Amino acid sequence: MKLTEIGKGFYHFKSAEPVLHRNIYIKRFVGPDDLSGVMVFDPGAKSDAAALWEALEEVAGGVAHVDLVFVSHQDPDVASNAKFLVDNAPRSLVVASVDSWRLLGMMGIPDRRFYLLESWGEEPLEIKRTGHRLHPVPAHYCHFRGSMMMYDYESRVLFSGDLCAGVNTRGGEGIYADEASWAGISLFHQIYMPSKRAVQEAIGRIVALEPPPEVIAPQHGDVIAGAFVEEFLGRLARLDVGVDLVKLKDPEKEAGVAALNAFFDGLKAGSMALYEAMWEEVTRRNEFTTLFKIARGRIVDMKVSVANAVVYLCNVTDKAVPREERDRVKVVLAVALEERGVEVPSFCLLGTGTQPDIFAAPTAEGKSS
Ligand SMILES: [Fe+2]
Ligand SMILES: [Fe+2]
Repeated sequence: MKLTEIGKGFYHFKSAEPVLHRNIYIKRFVGPDDLSGVMVFDPGAKSDAAALWEALEEVAGGVAHVDLVFVSHQDPDVASNAKFLVDNAPRSLVVASVDSWRLLGMMGIPDRRFYLLESWGEEPLEIKRTGHRLHPVPAHYCHFRGSMMMYDYESRVLFSGDLCAGVNTRGGEGIYADEASWAGISLFHQIYMPSKRAVQEAIGRIVALEPPPEVIAPQHGDVIAGAFVEEFLGRLARLDVGVDLVKLKDPEKEAGVAALNAFFDGLKAGSMALYEAMWEEVTRRNEFTTLFKIARGRIVDMKVSVANAVVYLCNVTDKAVPREERDRVKVVLAVALEERGVEVPSFCLLGTGTQPDIFAAPTAEGKSS
């Protein structure tokens, strides 16, 4: 467990999954006369409880000092430790929307331990003991009806829940987003966010915050800071996600599906062993999700854009195919795409390039070089 202070008194640590980890945040408010308050943001999965305990020892002098447990929505990766905190921190309250409360109560948390945000509309909240202000910001349908974000005015950190979250595509150490994070952010939103309009409305509320946030702290992926805040919010507002990608007739997607099937046919004709290695990886249930809908050995649909599907296949090639065969596989893919008029992203074809390693294996041999 490694704690990083991402804003004044605002601490971050993350779980260890290589592809899709959870970020958990703890804010310590210090007021006059050293009175303090402690708030946890999305306390995480059961498997995070030991690390959360340790982090609270370090930041707050122990779990018993937690005052507020903000829960962006009720998903198990977000909220499983809410009951654990309520049981171990006698004065703590769970802060959530009414829509989340209806489901969170089923974890056995009594109603009197909830603070429902709608009671106060969207007005900033004030922590009486220290005078600090927080602003609850709705993120309706991103990805749940009652999803909420929380802005801490003191640190200018916006905790954004699943909005602005991402699959890990940035290699290396550190916790802050860079350009390589975008592929994972767009992939996450295409799969989990229901519609561009919902994302745009939530982003509209973020940009209306005054003063604007300096850091966006999502529940998965990289922490977004500096110029990337404005840049990634702008790109997210323009991204087709969820139902935007489900069109009754979508010639671009149809061409993409046809090209990917032609790719696998070409691979099978050239080398059964390479085909089997690739197909097994693509159809295996992996840690994140399966991107393709498959029926009778053919790809019939995909959950992401054609471009992201191609990025994914390039990463699968780097993971599942021996190094000396990778260019051969990518040539078959490039030909299949080109023949059907699908754009071939240059960064993931032939040579090492700087392709995002979306589905990186946790071991060193699984990584491309
Ligand atoms: Fe979620
Ligand atoms: Fe999540």
